[in-house]
Amino acid sequence: MGASDANRIVFQSGSRPTDLTMNASLPPTVSQPVVAKLTKAAIFLVLTLNPEKENEITVRGLCADLSSLLRAVGFRDLEGRLSCVMAFGSGAWDRLFGAPRPKDLHPFREIRGVHHAVATPGDIMLHIRATRMDLCFELATHIMTRLDGAVTVADEVHGFSYFDDRDLFGFVDGTENPVDQAAVDAAIVGDEDSAFAGGSYVIVQKYLHDMKGWNALPIEQQENIIGRHKLSDIEQLDSEKKPYAHNVLTSIEENGQELQIVRDNMPFGQIGKGEFGTYFIGYARSPARIEQMLENMFVGKPPGNYDRLLDFSRAVTGCLFFVPTASFLDDVVADAAPPPKDDIEPLQARPRVSLGDGSLGIGSLKKEAGHE
Ligand code: HEM
Repeated sequence: MGASDANRIVFQSGSRPTDLTMNASLPPTVSQPVVAKLTKAAIFLVLTLNPEKENEITVRGLCADLSSLLRAVGFRDLEGRLSCVMAFGSGAWDRLFGAPRPKDLHPFREIRGVHHAVATPGDIMLHIRATRMDLCFELATHIMTRLDGAVTVADEVHGFSYFDDRDLFGFVDGTENPVDQAAVDAAIVGDEDSAFAGGSYVIVQKYLHDMKGWNALPIEQQENIIGRHKLSDIEQLDSEKKPYAHNVLTSIEENGQELQIVRDNMPFGQIGKGEFGTYFIGYARSPARIEQMLENMFVGKPPGNYDRLLDFSRAVTGCLFFVPTASFLDDVVADAAPPPKDDIEPLQARPRVSLGDGSLGIGSLKKEAGHE
């Protein structure tokens, strides 16, 4: 896919992201398109990596070729804004890449509060987005053909945008998402883990809704649960908001600063099966902030003051992954098994990072020093 420079952002270690045009001598490290614009269609694939060593070679081989698959399919309709994010779970990271590891990568921690946030298997996550489902479907098919036999599909969800970006409960979902620089600041790892700067963490959860129960609630009660007005999408006044409102419990701060995440939830469902759901996907520069939101929702803040959305939404999956940069993926060598832990020297920090714009068109970066 053609990369538009206007949409690309670069940052140097120790500085805030700036425009790509300010790039000087060093080749940039390109992020995966975590902060891509919301789209009409998405496919979420969560895979487990089959046991044998040869399967690891197959997956590493795909990592290096993902950008070219994406270019080939995406070029068929540039307006379709096809993008793909590939992410890895904690155990899979060790098997595929070894050390060093992203510093906050760990398995998803289940939460047993008033409601239960389950932890379910997942080694690899693919988040494929486009304005048209056929583009997502085509790319997913090519990826899975390449991975045939090496992975098992743990979960596959085809999400669609519903009217004006509403969830199936009828509320607009995504309004308070950070955009532009704020999205980068929220989702992209910086100097706090310089070897993995430009990466991101992602948590996914598949929620199934009790539509009958929800629809039986008076609209006013629904609005109190979300903390916004349903038709207009206007936020309730602070004085009106209930302490358990979704937007109260998911607004978190550290040292007086709001900690944001980038969400791209999608409705999905199968009418015949009576399945209606929301696929939650949240990207952040640290998993801790998403975990804090989940704690507030499932346990409550203070404990017991939990998110009433969960009385009508059951989490049936839960996984945490790290999203390495696109440059990292491009540099992966299929046959290069991770060295035993003792042999590993600390990785040098990559000097510059640029954010992908929905394309992984980074073939020219192959020679950059990086992960092998
Ligand atoms: C059943 C699943 C979920 C549904 C249907 C849902 C729906 C919504 C809706 C309708 C809004 C208000 C509009 C907006 O600002 O986007 C919202 C806001 C938000 N949600 Fe969710 N959400 C779900 C799960 C989650 C989870 C699991 C998290 C985090 C772990 C989360 C984090 C947030 C945040 C941070 C906001 C913005 C709050 C603000 O600053 O006003 N949501 N969600």
